[in-house]
Amino acid sequence: MKITIIGSGYVGLTSGTCFAEVGHHVTCVDNNPEKIETLLKGEIPIYEPGLAELVQQNVAAGRLKFTTSTEEGVRDGEVIFIAVPTPPQPDGSVDLSFIEKVAREIAQCLKPELGYRVIVDKSTVPVKTGDKVKQTVRRYAPEGVEFGVVSNPEFLREGCAVDDLLNPDRIVIGSNDDKALGYMQKLYEPFVAPVLVTDINSAELIKHAANSFLALKISYINAVANICEAAGADVEKVAEGIGMDKRIGRQFLNAGLGYGGSCFPKDIKAFIAISETLGQPFGLLKEVERINADQMNHFLDKIREKLWVFREKKIALWGLAFKQNTDDVRESVAIKMARVMLGEGASIVAADPQAVGTAKRFGNLEGDISYADDMYAALDGADALVIATEWPQFATADLEEVAKRLRTPLVFDGRNLLDPEDVKAAKLEYYPIGRPAVAG
Ligand code: UDX
Repeated sequence: MKITIIGSGYVGLTSGTCFAEVGHHVTCVDNNPEKIETLLKGEIPIYEPGLAELVQQNVAAGRLKFTTSTEEGVRDGEVIFIAVPTPPQPDGSVDLSFIEKVAREIAQCLKPELGYRVIVDKSTVPVKTGDKVKQTVRRYAPEGVEFGVVSNPEFLREGCAVDDLLNPDRIVIGSNDDKALGYMQKLYEPFVAPVLVTDINSAELIKHAANSFLALKISYINAVANICEAAGADVEKVAEGIGMDKRIGRQFLNAGLGYGGSCFPKDIKAFIAISETLGQPFGLLKEVERINADQMNHFLDKIREKLWVFREKKIALWGLAFKQNTDDVRESVAIKMARVMLGEGASIVAADPQAVGTAKRFGNLEGDISYADDMYAALDGADALVIATEWPQFATADLEEVAKRLRTPLVFDGRNLLDPEDVKAAKLEYYPIGRPAVAG
């Protein structure tokens, strides 16, 4: 099929590329000429494992192209995806102005002679946005244009986006119209995954409800972790025991510093705002947010307790990205923590396998911070190692080397990556989350 993706950011670029990979002809549109320029040169503006190769292969195969022209996109694609940002407003509600603008632009490019078009919302949007898109397209499109509107939320995770897109757990198609649904079913035929067909409102709600539930799971285990800590129990064992119940499952029960990233913090806020607008305030989600924010403060208190003060202390910080396998530092707890420590006078040497560049550009980190290319070099002469991101290379670190390089052998593990037995053998003093410390 011929499809167009408007918005070549994380979701747009990765999903467009994967649609091309399964055999569709894809036009990716973006209004940022520099981004399109970069993509035309075969370069990828984001770090996502496997994506660069797929882009190059599909461009070479003639199935993937890039343009700044919405008109070209609307002409070429029988199915047109909207994948533009839906950032939060100061009150937590969603700013839908990019969606509205794109809906208007699509409408103005539609012509009756182009034939039927399906307009699909892939961005995460509040329930009832589909109605607004339909109303806007109807208002701005010329007489005689035929189109359908569909909601098709995206559940990809950064760092494993390609695999999530090619092998999804489920495909959700929200449509109130059979013709549009037929196009979507054909589009997804090459994918081996269950397809759930719903009305548009339900599809829109599935995205916010799913992300909120995952965030709830994280806050739940973090609250349990704090109880474990107070009781001298081990949250890793507790999570394992809870997770063995198939109704609960072990995934997303990793205690740590809480969730960050471009989705969860924003989506939970949005769902709270949506629930309030609909007169059904969702207080439980406010508690999820509160636990999440407290998690970092509790960890910082633990470090303060051992170091007494941050002033004149040198901290080796492992991790800047909001999670492993990404260079994304948006809403990264690692960055927020670095800001607090710097603010209290610490000096930081940070290491991250991918996110040093993005942290320098977007982290707004002011104070005595430098960056090490090598994670071990960050440790030289440091008063403590703080682990903030769950990169696998940190989990398999050579702890003898860590002990040798640190000035004082203190390790604060905000992601429970290290094995307490190994830590003990390396004679490190170790403070994880929700598990007994290894001290002395
Ligand atoms: C999330 C959803 O998983 C995805 O389905 C949706 O489309 C977008 O939002 P993403 O933000 O890429 O994806 O990352 P995810 O792997 O879900 O992690 C989010 C945050 O939660 C990270 O900061 C991570 O460190 C944290 N996390 C995750 C935990 O603290 N514990 C866990 O058990 C899992």
